Formats: sequence, structure tokens, C-alpha cells
Amino acid sequence: MNKPVILTGLRANGELHLGNYLGGMLPMVQLQAKYAGEYQVNMFVPDLHSFTTPIDHGKLYLQIVQNLKLFVAAGLDISNDDTYIYRQSYVPMHSELTWILDCFTYFGELSRMTEFKDKASRLGHESISVGLYNYPALMAADILLYAAKYVPVGDDQRQHIELTRDIALRMNNKFNKDLFVVPAEWTEQVAFAERDAGVRIKSLRNPTKKMSKSIDDPAGTILLTDAPEAAVKKIMGAETDSLGVIHYDIEAQPGISNLLQILALLINEPLSRVADTWDGKTAYSDLKKAVANEVKVFLHDFQTKLAAVNEADLLRKLEASEFLMRDVAGQRLYKIQQAVGLRP
Ligand code: TYM
Repeated sequence: MNKPVILTGLRANGELHLGNYLGGMLPMVQLQAKYAGEYQVNMFVPDLHSFTTPIDHGKLYLQIVQNLKLFVAAGLDISNDDTYIYRQSYVPMHSELTWILDCFTYFGELSRMTEFKDKASRLGHESISVGLYNYPALMAADILLYAAKYVPVGDDQRQHIELTRDIALRMNNKFNKDLFVVPAEWTEQVAFAERDAGVRIKSLRNPTKKMSKSIDDPAGTILLTDAPEAAVKKIMGAETDSLGVIHYDIEAQPGISNLLQILALLINEPLSRVADTWDGKTAYSDLKKAVANEVKVFLHDFQTKLAAVNEADLLRKLEASEFLMRDVAGQRLYKIQQAVGLRP
């Protein structure tokens, strides 16, 4: 278990959508295919993050297992020996490390997190939980506990990766320069995942806002469980603009740029190349049809794989991984406890 680590997590509150797939799952399965053998691959469900916003707790447990199946449907090879899948709450060291990190994280830092500020302004400060405010520290613990260097995530998580780096550097400075492996800088993360830039898929109905599971926006969001034909309708109805010429420009043409980004990721080509191919064309409907077709093929394939996931294999892998991760995380936590003076 001495290989460098690639790690990512996807929360289980509600159904996952195309943004989750393109921003978090796809880079992870591509990196696994490219680097397994050379790197350890940790893909986990941050289940303690699930109730930072209100959810139906009665459904959570099954949703968590469902999320793990989605990883397999997305292409994660769980038969690979360097790959681990686990639920955060089954490795209690995450919570303990969070408290320690909390004490080296500043109120101002967490207050500046855009994800927090966005949700707080929507829900109101009086009714949002301290958990929502504090979850970037839990996310930092998720990453630092396994010494992960690369953390493939969508652009909305960039600030959290930067915060994780800041906490790790601060504690390394104070205690021991080798205490934490500091995750790579954002630009290096993006380059490692072979992307032109951080990925942020937008709502199809409101392309200045990200596609999100916490906003009620069914026409703007493609769920991984959507019937392919329903998804085609959503793409064909995507909000664009009246300029009449295709050009990749997030500010002036957010809807068109979003479609180009979705297309590039689904056909696995650089965004710059796809943008060049379509640049100057005038038939928006042709672009929509091309995207709709790729989305349809993708969903069909994804859902076929989902139906074929072998649950017994999945649960076996899950339990074996959790057993091992408790050991790995326990050893690292002990070193951190020693560094801060809690252990001899
Ligand atoms: P979460 O569960 O909200 O999202 C899971 C992944 O999906 C990405 N994502 C998007 N990417 C592109 N466009 C979008 N519209 C879009 N919406 C979501 C997210 O960037 C993420 O990669 N805090 C994390 C979960 C987490 C985690 C971790 C991730 C907890 N601990 C440790 C990595 C490492 C979150 O809330 O993601």
C-alpha cells in the first residue's frame, strides 16, 4: 500500500446527475484505467456529508449502496487490487481527524467557501446547519487521511481542494514537514485528469448556474436514471441565445458553451478541438442533436451496466476495502495524534 493515491468521493443525497458523472466519476474511471498498478485508487461515498442539507433519512442507507453501484456502472473496475471503495462512516477516523483539522482551520476560511455562501444565501443563515459550514474540513480529512495527491473533482470543489492544501501546509509547518502529503495544486490536478480546465456543467435551463441536485430544476438537470428519450428532450429544449453563431464563450454564450463542454467530455476529445469543429456554424439545432445523441447513447450504456452490477461482488469488495481502510486510516491518525501531542 505504498503507491501514490488518487481519491474522490460523491455524496449520496438524491440521484446523481450528468454533472456528477462528467465532473467526478468520469475522470476517476479514466485515471483508474490509465494508472491502476501505478497508483492506489480510492472512490468512496462521503455518507456523513449527506445530511449537510436536509434529506429523507429513511432512504439514505439504500441510496448509499445505490451510489456504489453507480461507480461500477460508470466503469470503475472493482476487481482491481489497487482500487478501494468504502463508506466514510464505516471508517470513523474521518470524524476524529476532522475535529483536529477544525482546530487548525480559520472561521474566515470556511466563511469564504462559495458552496457554503450560495446555499446559506438560498436557505438563510438561521436554518442552515453547522455541518454545512464545516464540511470542507471533513472533506480535507477524507483526503489527508489517505495521503491523496490527486483528487479528481468538478470545478465547484476547487476551493475545497485549495483549503485542504492550506490546512496541510499549515500543519506541516507547525508540526512536521512530512505529516501530510499535500494534494497537488488545482492546475496540476486539472492537467493530471487531462482536462483543458476545471469542469463545471451548467443547468440546461439556466446555463449561468451549475447543474445541481440540491436545486429543484428537473428540466435543466439530466439524472443518470433519466430515460434516454427524456434526456434527449431536455437537451433539445436547452436554453441557448439569440446570437445565431456557435462560439465557445462562457460569458456571451453560456448555453452553447455548456453543450460543447458536454459533447467534448462524452466523446472524450479536448474541449478546444470540439469548440473549433463547431465554431462559426449557425444551426444550433445540429449541435443540440449531436449532444442529445451522445447523451442518449451514454445513458443507455450506463443504465445497462447498472442493471448488470453484481451486488454480492460489490458488497464483498466494500467490506474488504472498509476493513483495510480502517487499518490505513488508523495508522495515519495515530501519527497525527502523536504530532499534536495526544499520543506518546
Ligand atoms: P458532490 O457530491 O456534490 O459532487 C460529486 C462530484 O460531482 C462534481 N459535480 C460537478 N462537476 C461538474 N459539473 C457540475 N455541475 C457538478 N456538480 C457536481 C463535484 O465536483 C464532485 O466531484 N464535497 C464533495 C464530496 C466529497 C469529496 C471528498 C470529493 C467529500 N469528501 C473528498 C473528493 C474528495 C461534494 O459535495 O461533491
